Amino acid sequence: MLQPHRPPARSVFGSLVLIAIVIGASAAAFAYTAGWLSPQRLTPDKMVDALTPPTVDPLGHRRNHAKGICFTGIFEANGAGSALSQAQVFTRGQYPALGRFNVATPDPKAADATVRVRGLGLLISTPDGQEWRTAMIDAPVFPASTPQAFYDLLLASASKDPDAMKTYAGAHPEIAAFGAWAKSAPWTGSYAEDRFNSLNSFIFVDNSGAEHAVRWSLLPAAQPVPVPPDELAKRGPDFLEQEITQRVGSGPQHWTMVVTIANPGDPTADPTKVWPEDRHIVEVGTLTVERIEAERDGPCRDINFDPTVLPTGIRTSDDPFPAARSSAYAKSYDRRTAEAQDYPRTTTGAKP
Ligand code: HEM
Repeated sequence: MLQPHRPPARSVFGSLVLIAIVIGASAAAFAYTAGWLSPQRLTPDKMVDALTPPTVDPLGHRRNHAKGICFTGIFEANGAGSALSQAQVFTRGQYPALGRFNVATPDPKAADATVRVRGLGLLISTPDGQEWRTAMIDAPVFPASTPQAFYDLLLASASKDPDAMKTYAGAHPEIAAFGAWAKSAPWTGSYAEDRFNSLNSFIFVDNSGAEHAVRWSLLPAAQPVPVPPDELAKRGPDFLEQEITQRVGSGPQHWTMVVTIANPGDPTADPTKVWPEDRHIVEVGTLTVERIEAERDGPCRDINFDPTVLPTGIRTSDDPFPAARSSAYAKSYDRRTAEAQDYPRTTTGAKP
């Protein structure tokens, strides 16, 4: 008669030890990822928590740039970018574009004239199945030089200590360039008149494999008309989306995409530092916004304009921001999509 096979006692013990090691290692990995082993470490959760002031109800919305409106259109490449990057998006031709105009506030109900920074999220798709996602702002520099400094700035601006911002600025004098822009740059009455800048640096890889450190911007075709913010306030809390809906309704709006190439030694890891004016600039194409669509029902609502989603031919540089942004945007995306019942889609929504 066959006897049931009994493994030797030592091998059972060995298996149990192995299982314990695997479970222990997984638990340690979870604990590390959650930041429990290093409470000082900056996690996406902490970053996203710090973005939302206690007075704001963000449920269902982006945790920054919460107020915005979708658009669709075309990116027409003129072919000049192909000398810098092998990405198909720079080959002469037309590619579908999807985007979102927005104001840089965590409050989806903020009045437009109270928000200094405006943004533009953009996704361009190419027939090779690749995508270029980017999120740009109208400021020419970022207020913080590292993700940790940005987090500290968020904490300082939310602090009850009346000296917190002064203390922050003392420790981070690099905020001055952004401060000067915020104080003196003219406001416009339209997204169509604004310039949008990547600020972060990326690497273009050309067909020979050579690399070029770059930043990019969208320059408006419309002439900017300065309007003081108290004048803008009279136009109503949502004047920006009303104006762009009307404007695009009467004709497509255009921006020229320009790529600025760094000289060797230009700072690529710090978006508080502008590059000198004489850097080589290449016009690579035109973004045409053809149609405005309400965000609530629109195609940009469930898009994460993650700046690390890049086609072959564009990659991240030593700039630490895109990776930090990617993880924070993913956290924001997870939260807002899990809260969809707090921001329900509506088929009767005010579609422009
Ligand atoms: C560490 C620094 C940053 C953090 C933590 C951060 C955080 C965020 C978050 C959480 C969102 C919402 C994402 C979503 O739910 O889809 C967002 C959106 C956005 N951010 Fe940032 N951001 C940072 C830096 C920047 C920089 C440097 C720029 C521009 C140069 C920028 C431009 C934008 C724009 C335009 C949007 C709106 C995109 C859209 O319409 O979905 N951000 N940011």
